[in-house]
Amino acid sequence: MMNFHILTLFPEMVMQGLHTSILGRAVEREHISIEAVNIRDYTLDKHGKVDDYTYGGGAGMLMQAQPVFDAWQAVADGIAARGASPGRVIYVTPQGKTFHQKMAQELAAEEDLIFLCGHYEGIDERVLEEIVTDEVSIGDYVLTGGELPAMVMIDAIARLVPGVLHNTDSAVTESFYDGLLEYPQYSRPEVWHDRRVPPILLSGDHAKVDAWRLEQSILRTKERRPDLYEVYCNKNL
Ligand code: ADE
Repeated sequence: MMNFHILTLFPEMVMQGLHTSILGRAVEREHISIEAVNIRDYTLDKHGKVDDYTYGGGAGMLMQAQPVFDAWQAVADGIAARGASPGRVIYVTPQGKTFHQKMAQELAAEEDLIFLCGHYEGIDERVLEEIVTDEVSIGDYVLTGGELPAMVMIDAIARLVPGVLHNTDSAVTESFYDGLLEYPQYSRPEVWHDRRVPPILLSGDHAKVDAWRLEQSILRTKERRPDLYEVYCNKNL
C-alpha cells in the first residue's frame, strides 16, 4: 500500500484525474491511496489569502510560507500518527532534476510521498528550505502549475506498485526490453485498409514472434531515439 499526498491549491483537479481508469481501480482495491490537501484551508489570513507580492519587485504573486508549512505539518502529523517514517517531500518545479523511469522505480519503494504543487510565480524559498527533500521537473518546458507534473509522476510511480497493474507480465516485458522502444502491435482484423498483419505474428511460433519483436524494438529505437540506442548497444556489448 502506497500513500500519495498532494499539497495544492486545486485539489479537485488532481482528484478527478487520478481516480479514473487504472489508478481509480487501484484506489478501490487499496493498493494505493491518494489524498489532496487544499493549502488554502491552512491559511491564517482571514480573507483566505495564500499569496502576496515578491520582495524586490518583479512580476506576479508568490505563495506564502505559512499556509504551505501548516498544510505539510498536518500531513506529516498524520503519517507520524500511523508510526510510518516521514514521507519524502517532492517539490514539483522546472528547476528540479528531470524525472525519469529509474526515479519512478526508486520512489515506488516508499510508503508515503508528499507532492508540493506551486502555482503563480512559485513559493517562498524559506518554506522550501524547511520541508522539501527532492525537487523534480517533468521536462524542459514551463507549465502554469505543479498539478499536472505531480499527476504525471504519480501515474508513473503508482503503476509500479505491486498489484496496480493486473498482469505482472507488463513489468516483466518492460525489463526485458529495458531501454528500448516498444515493438508495433496488431489486433483483429487480419487485413484492414489493404494492410496485413505481419505473417510471423500469425505463425504460432512463440520463439520467432519474440525474436521479431525484439528486432523491431531495436530498429525503432535506432531510428527514433539514437540516444537510447547507443546506451542499449553499450550495455549489450
Ligand atoms: N511547474 C511548471 N512547469 C513544470 C515542469 N516542467 N515540471 C515540473 N513542475 C513544473
